[in-house]
Amino acid sequence: MRVLITGGAGYIGSHTLIELLAVGCEVLVLDDLSNSSTVALNQVKLIAERDFEFIKGDTRDANLLVEIFSRFKPEIVLHLAGFKSVAESVDNPLSYYGNNVSGSVQLLEVMSKHKCTKIVFSSSATVYGAAKYLPYDEDHPTNPINPYGRTKIMIESIISDWCKANVNNSAIALRYFNPVGAHSSSLIGENPCGTPNNLMPLIVQVAAGEKDKLKVFGKNYNTRDGTGARDYIHVLDLASAHLSAIGYLKNNVGFSVFNVGTGRAITILELIEVFELVSGTKIEYEFVAERHGDLAIAVSDPKKAEKFLRWKAKYTVEDMCRDTWNWQINKPKIIKGLVSTAP
Ligand code: UD1
Repeated sequence: MRVLITGGAGYIGSHTLIELLAVGCEVLVLDDLSNSSTVALNQVKLIAERDFEFIKGDTRDANLLVEIFSRFKPEIVLHLAGFKSVAESVDNPLSYYGNNVSGSVQLLEVMSKHKCTKIVFSSSATVYGAAKYLPYDEDHPTNPINPYGRTKIMIESIISDWCKANVNNSAIALRYFNPVGAHSSSLIGENPCGTPNNLMPLIVQVAAGEKDKLKVFGKNYNTRDGTGARDYIHVLDLASAHLSAIGYLKNNVGFSVFNVGTGRAITILELIEVFELVSGTKIEYEFVAERHGDLAIAVSDPKKAEKFLRWKAKYTVEDMCRDTWNWQINKPKIIKGLVSTAP
């Protein structure tokens, strides 16, 4: 199968790319490298022991898309390209609507013209907003509270309408919960450009001595220990969900959404404890005020994906912390190009 993956050099994209290559797909990666680099792509080639085409470019570039679709003729698109910082989206909403929403519309237009009828879209659990009930199932009302989240729900609606307009079109939106972890080879993992905002990269910075203390946002939430609880999911589980989605689209039309989570929430202090155990490090932290817009608990109901995609998360929190830490140890050498193998 010929697969176009947008955002294929990114954190989730590069892990998904390995899965695609492992099952024999012919792959073309389109990525503007705005939050990634070709280092990850070279590492993927080593892990997969296979080659693929890479084009640096933007999904808003119609001419480029036409060239790709005319020549490569993808049978399916995995659309992962997009900006993903909540804070940035509040400061600069138009760049988020422009890149995420307009880029998706452009992509769907070119897909339609070239009779490419299948797309898997990388959405986010952030589309749910404040919980009316937990765990979130896919019927939970959507009410994102920031521009980033709104771009995700807008794109879902656009793709849904695209499917309604042509009975041959089929699409899946995967609503990711909190991706963490790295490839078990330690050859690729998360490598955020600039200052990270998400919890796991910050824990890693403290463990590595790059940061003195973690700021824990709030200690009076209604959770087991008062700190926020999330459904962390190993990036390799997330990657395999894309393969399951492709399998589903081979036999089903229309638009479907699926949660991609474990169905289990753990608190910040619980995550710190596991991280300390598997890494043998000490994570210093201090409690600070709650972060505006944060939820006490976000946890998925993963049953729909289990039933229809036949997909289930298999990695534990220990796996997530261990793989994150091993990648952190190996990362500096890989970035500097000193090694291309695991420690
Ligand atoms: C955040 C985004 C969400 C996005 C997701 C992607 C916000 C408000 N939400 O979700 O839209 O889809 O990342 O992975 O930014 N925490 C600390 N100290 C820190 C950082 C985080 O205590 O320095 C806490 C948070 O309060 C939260 C937990 O750690 O309880 C996880 O935070 P984070 O990794 O930012 O993920 P989300 O808030 O779930």
